Amino acid sequence: MSTTVPVITIDGPSGTGKGTLGFRIAQRLGWHFLDSGALYRLVALRAGDEGVALDDELRVASIAQHLPVRFEVSGGEFRTLLEGRDEADRLRTEEAGAAASVVAALPAVRAALLSRQHNFRQLPGLVADGRDMGTVVFPDAVLKLFLTASAEVRAGRRHKQLRGKGIDVRLAPLLEDIRRRDQRDQQRAIAPLLPAPDAAILDTTELGISEVENHVIGLLRECGIV
Ligand code: DC
Repeated sequence: MSTTVPVITIDGPSGTGKGTLGFRIAQRLGWHFLDSGALYRLVALRAGDEGVALDDELRVASIAQHLPVRFEVSGGEFRTLLEGRDEADRLRTEEAGAAASVVAALPAVRAALLSRQHNFRQLPGLVADGRDMGTVVFPDAVLKLFLTASAEVRAGRRHKQLRGKGIDVRLAPLLEDIRRRDQRDQQRAIAPLLPAPDAAILDTTELGISEVENHVIGLLRECGIV
């Protein structure tokens, strides 16, 4: 890992728009983008495919260590490839998110993914989104953001997104799922979801993605990044 490559970290719970924001900022700056949540989701999916129990720490950590994953940008979109296959559909389900949150609580899995995440730090810079980017993975980031929003608003966004894809779901179970996942991510013993002491906290409850992006561009100017 080179300490001269600048990193911007974006942490926060699911549904705050950090993935969309991170990708947009990375595109604007011409920097690399790391969707660390996708790594945890892929590990959980792969464990399911291989019939490995999600709490079998050693075997799940071995999957994390050898995960044949590649990220690429094509057609202006960010793609996650597992063995060259685009896994977007399987990756973005509620089940994959919940399973990811379970394997993410295993210390050996987090340790296996740590050096893999450091490898994404390449010139000219990296925007990294997740839960512990600013606290554990890139504590020397030049700018740390922590996005929040009420659980109700986050569930509402997810609901709208799924309905837009023609998936018929009810709001109440989505909200319950978000609350359960927040609780597991915040209360785990290792690398819990929490803002770094030097993070700028942005509440996106009342803000659209473009408003959040404009605010962040202001912060980038203040830091001399643009
Ligand atoms: O950001 P996401 O919803 O794709 O993340 C899925 C799960 O993975 C999330 O519930 C917690 C876990 N995760 C984590 O523990 N650390 C990260 N840096 C990213 C995700």
